[in-house]
Amino acid sequence: MNFVSSADGAAEIEGRSGTLGGPGDRQVFRVLRWLADVVLVGAGTARAEDYGPAVVPAERREIRVAAGLAPVPPVAVVSGSLEFDPTARLFGGEVRPLLLTRASAPPERVAALRAVAEVVTCGEDRVEPALVLAELAARGLGRVLCEGGPMLHAQLAGAGLLDELCLTVEPVLAGPGHLGIVAGAPWLAACPLELAHVLEEDGSLFLRYRVPREP
Ligand SMILES: NC(=O)c1ccc[n+]([C@@H]2O[C@H](COP(=O)([O-])OP(=O)(O)OC[C@H]3O[C@@H](n4cnc5c(N)ncnc54)[C@H](OP(=O)(O)O)[C@@H]3O)[C@@H](O)[C@H]2O)c1
Repeated sequence: MNFVSSADGAAEIEGRSGTLGGPGDRQVFRVLRWLADVVLVGAGTARAEDYGPAVVPAERREIRVAAGLAPVPPVAVVSGSLEFDPTARLFGGEVRPLLLTRASAPPERVAALRAVAEVVTCGEDRVEPALVLAELAARGLGRVLCEGGPMLHAQLAGAGLLDELCLTVEPVLAGPGHLGIVAGAPWLAACPLELAHVLEEDGSLFLRYRVPREP
């Protein structure tokens, strides 16, 4: 999971995360994408941030291919409603995106979007996070970079499916009234983290946490 946050824990300002992250965060964002098999994101984020396909420069494609990865990772979006415009930039790349949805998604939307994306059913009335990871793994997409948003993050971490959290903390206070990096129903217990890595540049902290596993 990769997030950027203000020092007071805001994950968005005016509904977007772009204004929070500086050059260092953008570099981390790109590099994590270049290391991933697939970029996973919730539909709320894909819409708010007008997601497009992942961009991988030629020299990075060579490194990826030499390491056994596809030249460009597909983007996979979790959505129950499938409220997407088939002409949106998300669907305009060289790699078809995946739409991870539920069996009860509106059939006319499924039909319209099948022309521009691979539509995968991962649950009956809701998308089940464990089925999402299983469907991605079945396609050889085992190294999953999730870019949020807070609702999808809370479901993956709450279900014990998170293994790492890369968190950029920017030197700014956003003030009250913002979304944090998790949203949705409360958990039964907190999820402990182990700090694995800290970098600093221009006052920004780049933290990498691991979720400890039972032996
Ligand atoms: N700071 C950061 O690094 C960062 C990163 C990401 C996002 N953000 C911010 O977070 C905000 C978006 O937050 P969010 O919590 O709404 O976004 P989200 O988690 O990206 O998306 C929520 C949407 O995902 C779909 N979804 C999630 N879980 C589902 C499930 N189990 N079953 C079916 N559908 C499911 C639903 O889409 P449908 O409505 O299509 O059914 C739901 O409305 C934006 O302001 C964005 O800028 C910040």
